[in-house]
Amino acid sequence: MRVLALLDGTLADPEAPLFRADDLGVMRGDGCFETILVVDREPRELGPHLDRMERSARLLQMPLPERAAWERAGQAVIDAWPWDSEPEMGLKLVCTRGIDGGDGTPHGFAMGMDVGPDTKRKRDSGVEVVTLDRGYAPDLMDRAPWLLLSAKTLSYAVNMAALREAEERGADDVIFTASEGTVLEGPTSTVVLAQGRKLLTTPPASGVLAGTTQGALFRAAEQAGWETEVVDFPTSALFDSDGVWLASSIRRLTQVRAINGTSVKADDALHNEIVNLYESNY
Ligand SMILES: Cc1ncc(COP(=O)(O)O)c(C=O)c1O
Repeated sequence: MRVLALLDGTLADPEAPLFRADDLGVMRGDGCFETILVVDREPRELGPHLDRMERSARLLQMPLPERAAWERAGQAVIDAWPWDSEPEMGLKLVCTRGIDGGDGTPHGFAMGMDVGPDTKRKRDSGVEVVTLDRGYAPDLMDRAPWLLLSAKTLSYAVNMAALREAEERGADDVIFTASEGTVLEGPTSTVVLAQGRKLLTTPPASGVLAGTTQGALFRAAEQAGWETEVVDFPTSALFDSDGVWLASSIRRLTQVRAINGTSVKADDALHNEIVNLYESNY
């Protein structure tokens, strides 16, 4: 299922071509995007997603159409979505730098997509992951801002290659590690640990995306009396913790059951508590 809207709020045929062959998004993956979960017509964390898209565009030094245009296109998709048969939707906002050699006008659209059965199954039964070296040190972001480490750019080929590598190794997903052996993030997710009544995640300053799902979970957890810490931690912490999750808008909180073929603690009651904390935001 696909519903497509342009930034003026009009609907378009999702099966018809939309971009020119010389669009820089097509030719170089030059642009930024967001994926937002919408449940029963209600977008989750819309403000933080739009804030992050503006930040990504700033890091890319490209103009971004105004916020109202994204809200208008997103609402057009939500209004046209068949909520009775599909109660949840992934809403993609995509913006490219525009035509190669053109006048610099960015091109964007909003597209609603259904959440696949594989994602839902992993949410329910958890995942096995492998750790893969991402090849950079946690301080690289400061030293080399042009690498756009914490921006959500359209260049996800490396992230997708890592997921294929996981599949070849018989796993479902990936946790990237830094060259120092600390934990970064998943190719499309934030890593969250539980240690007693404390939740931990890696700081965006280490070059990971600031996750809106992790942000929502930590907000609710703090209100419920949990401690939270945003800090670099070694790969060994994945094995010593009371639970490990991959967090992202569409997968929500997916529990990690094994890492590199070794089981990690994956308590059902704790998983339910974490999921309920996140859901209590909505
Ligand atoms: C690299 C990366 N890290 C983290 C996340 C999680 O972000 P969010 O919770 O805002 O969806 C994503 C989302 O796709 C991602 O691509």
